[in-house]
Amino acid sequence: MKKEFVFYLDKIHQSAEFVPLKLDQEEVIEGIIKSNSQSWYPVFRGVPCFLQGTLKPDLKWFEEKYGLSAIADESEQESAKEQLLTNETFSDKWSRFRNYGLESSHQEFLYEWYCKKLGIANLENLQAFYQKFDRILEVGPGSGFNTKFIAENTKGQVFAVDISEAAFTTFENTKHLPNCHVVQADLMDMPFSDDSFDFIIADGVLHHTPNTKNALLAIYSKLKPGGQLFFYVYKKMGAARQFCDQYIRESFTNLDPESCYKACEGLTELGRELNHLNAKIILNQPIPILGIPAGTHDVQRLIYYNFVKCFWNDAFDFETNNMVNFDWYHPHNAWQHTEEEVQEWLQELGVQDYQFNPANPNGISVLLTKPVV
Ligand SMILES: C[S@@+](CC[C@H](N)C(=O)[O-])C[C@H]1O[C@@H](n2cnc3c(N)ncnc32)[C@H](O)[C@@H]1O
Repeated sequence: MKKEFVFYLDKIHQSAEFVPLKLDQEEVIEGIIKSNSQSWYPVFRGVPCFLQGTLKPDLKWFEEKYGLSAIADESEQESAKEQLLTNETFSDKWSRFRNYGLESSHQEFLYEWYCKKLGIANLENLQAFYQKFDRILEVGPGSGFNTKFIAENTKGQVFAVDISEAAFTTFENTKHLPNCHVVQADLMDMPFSDDSFDFIIADGVLHHTPNTKNALLAIYSKLKPGGQLFFYVYKKMGAARQFCDQYIRESFTNLDPESCYKACEGLTELGRELNHLNAKIILNQPIPILGIPAGTHDVQRLIYYNFVKCFWNDAFDFETNNMVNFDWYHPHNAWQHTEEEVQEWLQELGVQDYQFNPANPNGISVLLTKPVV
């Protein structure tokens, strides 16, 4: 954490006292942010932690080390339990796959996909897009590869908020960037004022919370009028895929991460072998009951989109492909939505300026602008 970070904590900075305790060059690795005489927030492994209640990590070691008394906060919510289980998936995933998106072999695929999701023609235009913002927030950065890319392409300040141990991976991958700040917090309760960012991105994140719509409302409240927000959520797929997903999830979400990675390996191999067949078929008739359109279909894609998640991309090694399948079947919270549903949320927010970008059949990509009233 950079020392000046405390000045960005709009919610508490007026009363904040910041005590850096362990430093590594310019970074505060351990410290305390005191918001008033009773409450304090720890900084450890370089990241300030604002998690509350059930979501809070065990801080006994930190309290003992620095002679602090625990803050009484026993608030428990049913939904927090599901979020905690979801966090286990991502804490594990982003501790194993620290270099996801940072390896050169990953980048062409990922940045092409970002261009499609944001409705931007090419990489240069994507870089130019980020340049224009002063204050950017990435929610749920995972490995932090996209936060890093954004921070490298803007003079503005970039903030990343993750609820799981992904926050530490993002910190390690971005700490060298002077305009980048990482926080561990729930997106439902972030330490920033309303209307304070001019660009917010939540890519594959909102559907992993207890309620996707409430998560969208929470991040939208942090967007300045006139600011832009991008989010990507899972799209509800056809009947056969839904049936199969539900059946697999009922079993796989209860496995520990290691066993779930192992259980996904057969699906990953199926994806690889189908992909390497490079076979296409033509369907003259659509199959509306399964949501399958007529036309030419790559066989791996046909099975992947309509029957079972068996992801494969030659840009990734076997473990990374397997992680993509794990990422689909292991998290407890993994909601899927229709475009109509998303459109209703936008209407409720009073958003008129938005685009749905057709980036891939199993996701909904939305770029919106908050109206200036
Ligand atoms: C599927 S990963 C996506 C990571 C990254 N955006 C990407 O596209 O590679 C979802 C991330 O969202 C985070 N997340 C889930 N619920 C969250 C919440 N309530 N608040 C903040 N982050 C959350 C997870 O910890 C995880 O790092």
